[in-house]
Amino acid sequence: MMKRKTFKLRFLIGIPLLLVTILFGFYVAFEFTLVAEIKESLLEINKEDPIALGKTLFETRGCAGCHSLEQGVEGLGPSLYGLTEMNTIDYIRESITRPNETIVEGYKANIMPDYGKILEEYQVEALIEYLGTL
Ligand code: HEC
Repeated sequence: MMKRKTFKLRFLIGIPLLLVTILFGFYVAFEFTLVAEIKESLLEINKEDPIALGKTLFETRGCAGCHSLEQGVEGLGPSLYGLTEMNTIDYIRESITRPNETIVEGYKANIMPDYGKILEEYQVEALIEYLGTL
């Protein structure tokens, strides 16, 4: 009698537990593919819209922490106000990918990270396009 009871009990707990585990597995797998898909589509949107990508990069990769976009507001780095009116695209590209090549007067070298090693080429181009809209 006792043995049959424990068997029944195990069965009663075991089956739902197994089902829950399986369902949870499906759920986790679903979440992962969903997140991957969203990321993928965001990247696609951004690639089609380099200015939006540039803005996102500027705000999320540290640029905004050191550079203001307002006239005369200096941070760790110079304000980027009027940057594209006063400089060539080549200079701006170099300032981002090899910041120690030319040092802005009044600022120190080795403060701005070497974004040539951090960002992909299309990201640098997107940043330049975004800076061009300011
Ligand atoms: C830790 C602070 C810091 C971060 C982060 C940073 N910069 Fe800089 N940046 C500087 C400093 C300091 C200078 C001036 C010294 C020099 O020329 O390297 C500078 C110079 C520049 C210049 C040249 C400005 C001019 O007037 O000639 C550009 C353009 C620039 N940064 C863009 C960027 C972009 C775009 C990002 C983000 C991808 C970025 N910076 C991130 C500190 C920073």
